[in-house]
Amino acid sequence: MAKLWGGRFQKETDTLVEDFHSSISFDQRLYKYDIKGSIAHARMLGRCGILLPKEADAMIRGLEEVLADIEAGRVEFSVEAEDIHMNVEQLLTDKIGELGKKLHTARSRNDQVALDIRMYLKDEIDRIIVLLRGLQLSLLDLAEKHIDTVMPGYTHLQRAQPVTFGHHLMAYCEMFRRDRERLIDCRRRTDFMPLGAGALAGTTFSLDRAFVAEQLGFNAVTENSLDAVSDRDFAVEFTASASLIMVHLSRFCEEIILWSSAEFAFIELDDAYSTGSSMMPQKKNPDVAELIRGKSGRVFGDLQALLTMLKGLPLAYNKDMQEDKEALFDAADTVKKCLVIFKPMLETIRIKKNIMAEAARGGFTNATDLADYLVRRGVSFREAHEMSGKAVLYCLEKGLTLDGMSIMEFKKFSPLVEEDVYKAIDIKQCVEARKVPGGPAPEKVAESIARARQRLE
Ligand code: ARG
Repeated sequence: MAKLWGGRFQKETDTLVEDFHSSISFDQRLYKYDIKGSIAHARMLGRCGILLPKEADAMIRGLEEVLADIEAGRVEFSVEAEDIHMNVEQLLTDKIGELGKKLHTARSRNDQVALDIRMYLKDEIDRIIVLLRGLQLSLLDLAEKHIDTVMPGYTHLQRAQPVTFGHHLMAYCEMFRRDRERLIDCRRRTDFMPLGAGALAGTTFSLDRAFVAEQLGFNAVTENSLDAVSDRDFAVEFTASASLIMVHLSRFCEEIILWSSAEFAFIELDDAYSTGSSMMPQKKNPDVAELIRGKSGRVFGDLQALLTMLKGLPLAYNKDMQEDKEALFDAADTVKKCLVIFKPMLETIRIKKNIMAEAARGGFTNATDLADYLVRRGVSFREAHEMSGKAVLYCLEKGLTLDGMSIMEFKKFSPLVEEDVYKAIDIKQCVEARKVPGGPAPEKVAESIARARQRLE
């Protein structure tokens, strides 16, 4: 096949090279954006008098037919045509003849590919934002149900202080809120229209770039032609945001895995979201959660690949940049897949309230509350801490919990302890008393849920 850039060449491309540098196997998924962009470009060329109005019209009709052909599966892309941009141009020329060869006037594949991936990414960001919002709504529903389901909070994976399952869920809701904000922010910087930058130095034709931007729903045009064709910051930002989403999902999954073990037994995954072992009949494994945790690594790898690809590139476009696509696609695909499956997995878990509450009662999660009780009676916190620590040690030796001690036993540690200590160290009371803004007290969590709902409206 004749190359679209064959003029200055005297020899055919080696078939190895052809295969090596072709990107059609993966950039074909950009076809819709590529064609939409070409239609906007052709319309603008017609409007600016660079093409005759009837030429522009015929070209647009041809492009629409190419789109329909691809969508109907009537097209086989060619490796010789290298990438989606030249494949589309070739298909157009096959359809409308010589006129098709005018489509690339005042345009380069360098600004074209930048346009396509920006359009693609804006759509993907919108989809992921919708998925994140859906997950947040599920979290809010679940948190509401468990606003007073007491569980131990941990530091160092050691039982620390009592919280509620609702409060714990709301922590993830906050993470996903930041994730959404990051994506919205990244989308703002993706929303610049690069066509008109040409290969690197713009074009001698007077184009109406704003018209193209408007047709394609871009907020503005890029400012500098060199930057427009060499910038992939938006791809890095997106993949970094995607990485953080994966970090959050992965941490959540790690907890789900721990909680569903016999050692914790806080939750049970639904049969539909767990799998068995081919050898051990008794097993019910949290594979979905493990796989999400495992897939986080792919997305971090995608981010690393993009950063490394870009860091040594002189301005402007370099072919290295063709490597942006697979990383970007993989990051977006992986995040979407994980978000889609995580939501129903979470919604169907069975919460074992009693075991959670029991775990909160063991492990002396109210030891700080005992210290605080003494502080309220005038003891310095350091002294109170020491006294409460000694009481814990005593209980450990006797096999008691703090609230299992008699008043006489308490008084051995501090004469200031009275009957009301039992109320102060009652686990439910310990949670309810943590009314500080952002704290786990049910009334505070309810407010937090209400605010989150309002933000999601
Ligand atoms: N397939 C190329 C890419 O994805 C399109 C731009 C090619 N430009 C060029 N001058 N070879 O980056």
